[in-house]
Amino acid sequence: MFLPLLLICTLCLPRLIRAQSSPGISARSLDALLQDYAFKAFVLPRTGIPYDGGVPSNLTGIKVSAMRLRSGSLRTRGVHGYKEFQIPTGVAEQPYVERLVLVYHNLANWSSFYYPLPPGFSYLAPVLGLLAYDASNLSATNLPELDIRASGEPISINFLNVKLAPNGSSPKCVNFDLHGMVEFNNVLPGNVCSTIHQGHFSIVVQSIPTGRDDGAPPVGGGSGDGGKGKSKVWTIGAPVISVFVFLLLLGLLVVWVKDHKQGRKMQGMESAAEEGDALRMTAIGDTKAPVAMRTRTQPVLENDYVP
Ligand SMILES: *[C@@H]1O[C@H](CO)[C@@H](O)[C@H](O)[C@H]1NC(C)=O
Ligand SMILES: *[C@@H]1O[C@H](CO)[C@@H](O)[C@H](O)[C@H]1NC(C)=O
Ligand SMILES: *[C@@H]1O[C@H](CO)[C@@H](O)[C@H](O)[C@H]1NC(C)=O
Ligand SMILES: *[C@@H]1O[C@H](CO)[C@@H](O)[C@H](O)[C@H]1NC(C)=O
Repeated sequence: MFLPLLLICTLCLPRLIRAQSSPGISARSLDALLQDYAFKAFVLPRTGIPYDGGVPSNLTGIKVSAMRLRSGSLRTRGVHGYKEFQIPTGVAEQPYVERLVLVYHNLANWSSFYYPLPPGFSYLAPVLGLLAYDASNLSATNLPELDIRASGEPISINFLNVKLAPNGSSPKCVNFDLHGMVEFNNVLPGNVCSTIHQGHFSIVVQSIPTGRDDGAPPVGGGSGDGGKGKSKVWTIGAPVISVFVFLLLLGLLVVWVKDHKQGRKMQGMESAAEEGDALRMTAIGDTKAPVAMRTRTQPVLENDYVP
């Protein structure tokens, strides 16, 4: 009984850890790090020109750029083609600053490392980021992001070199905001996604289980809303379920260990009785505590884990 329990526990542990934070640094610390490296690309920067930054060797593959803009110019003129992003007129930042820096991320092969997807989903394009910062101090680090919002047309993202989706599957745009919320939308013609605020963006697909690619009808293919609801539930539900299962198993394990201990002490009690050993008598006294504790703990376990 003990071994299967332990096996299940070790199987659910990695998921539990992964759900809480990705290995290495978190996606938000990466944002802060990339802000620093993007700003370092500026040497006497001209406004409205993208400057590509370098990244440390432990992040090889990631691309960053920075563009300095007057806030008024962003609002009234937008930016026509900042890498994959098309920024229309009407985009304003909160809180107001006179000049801002738009930092661009392309997480390339690090996409699923910093933005892991639920099982069954995969990226068809790299995760791209667009974040805004105050430009008043170009050597500042750990700057808070500005909240940029499109009030008219949305910002559009024109993904290049998108992998082909498997037949019968429907790719979705995925938007990660800075607070960990995930939103799925339909892909517009030409591999375009849209957003009204800053964050990270990509195109994902829910892969069809193998063995179903032999002309069988696709599972829920094209049902935009159904897929959306399910994916959202998965993203939020998975960590909760993992924790629940883990705690349940932990509870069982604790009860089992106590049973086991009590069993051993019962044996000790018997042999002590047989031998009439004074030293063992103290051990018998001890057994009262665990027994009492167990009966106090049990109702708590039941109330908590059997809804
Ligand atoms: C990469 O190295 C830099 C120092 O060179 C360090 O500050 C940063 O945390 C490292 N990043 C990761 C993801 O380990
Ligand atoms: C991404 O690719 C680079 C080489 O281009 C490599 O050094 C790096 O380890 C890769 N990152 C991941 C997460 O595999
Ligand atoms: C800009 O930021 C750097 C680093 O945080 C700080 O040392 C410097 O004093 C700041 N400069 C101004 C003008 O605020
Ligand atoms: C996908 O479907 C198209 C026609 O609908 C077909 O030409 C193509 O070979 C299919 N691809 C795969 C990988 O099954």
